[in-house]
Amino acid sequence: MMNTVDIDWKNLGFNYIKTDQRYISYWKAGSWDEGTLSEDNQVHISEGSTALHYGQTVFEGMKAYRTKDGSINLFRADQNAERMQRSCRRLMMPTIPTDVFIEAVRKVVKANEKYIPPYGTGGSLYLRPYMIGIGDNIGVKPAEEYLFSIFCMPVGAYFKGGLTPSNFVVSDYDRAAGNGTGAAKVGGNYGGSLLPGAEAHKRNFSDAIYLDPTTHTKIEEVGAANFFGITEDNKFVTPLSPSILPSITKYSLLYLASERLGLDVVEREVFIDRLDEFKEAGACGTAAVISPIGGIQYKEEFHVFYSETETGPVTKKLYDELTGIQYGDIEAPEGWIIKV
Ligand code: PLP
Ligand code: COI
Repeated sequence: MMNTVDIDWKNLGFNYIKTDQRYISYWKAGSWDEGTLSEDNQVHISEGSTALHYGQTVFEGMKAYRTKDGSINLFRADQNAERMQRSCRRLMMPTIPTDVFIEAVRKVVKANEKYIPPYGTGGSLYLRPYMIGIGDNIGVKPAEEYLFSIFCMPVGAYFKGGLTPSNFVVSDYDRAAGNGTGAAKVGGNYGGSLLPGAEAHKRNFSDAIYLDPTTHTKIEEVGAANFFGITEDNKFVTPLSPSILPSITKYSLLYLASERLGLDVVEREVFIDRLDEFKEAGACGTAAVISPIGGIQYKEEFHVFYSETETGPVTKKLYDELTGIQYGDIEAPEGWIIKV
């Protein structure tokens, strides 16, 4: 039986809401414990935790969706498990096996089932797996103890307006170093993005766009989302760079654009002074879903793509296909949906 909670499902933003249970597991003496669900949303860790001083912290972002028939879908959860393993290796942290990760996600979703936004409201249950180095440390070296946890909360649109286009500004700051940690989902990348993000917001833009750190001529990321553009001759293009986070949504769209919409798709360089090659553009990610980009401010110039107020037709088709699969209305490519 589903209990109900008093939440205004249609007006959810992207804000912390405390839910009932979270998964907690500790790594000590070279292995993970069994893991438990806990009602306590506070974390009690040593002042010497490497997560606090040296940024030994990785995280993931994924969602559970309520379908029309009342079942619950996870979207490509194995991909989040694998990316987290890669992030952990980059920061010399232990990894969580994919099956353990997915089983923990299942437990958290089930334990908080009443917080999953009902089908048709446009909301979903956002899951935040994370791992941090803990224990008594002071030297700059990997911790010997770790905490892995997954918590969740209902969310709506990440960029205000959802499928309404919004505008972005190219930042002078770099998000990541050329051979740094840009491709890993590690806390430090986001700490460094707070100031550029705040400066963008102050100028009334949705977020900052980051260029490649070496030449500052190519688009890398749109805030905490990947960029895509649709060219005048209907190609789906996303940037290719070693310092971009490999977005699971982006790879899904590359497949869907090609296999379901019949577009040519390509990962390649996207030059900031060639925005006129795109008739539509957008940001994609778990939180962002597909957020159309109205225009981009680059130095003194403001470039408008399809429209500042309306979503372009290809972007809309991609959005319908992606969300249709996530909410179970459209048949998913094999292996993309895991039932809770
Ligand atoms: N880029 C950055 C910097 C992100 O934080 C995210 C969010 O996870 C993405 C892109 C999108 O990745 P995904 O589609 O796997 O959520
Ligand atoms: C996500 O899309 O899951 C993200 O990680 C974005 C974010 C809120 C950091």
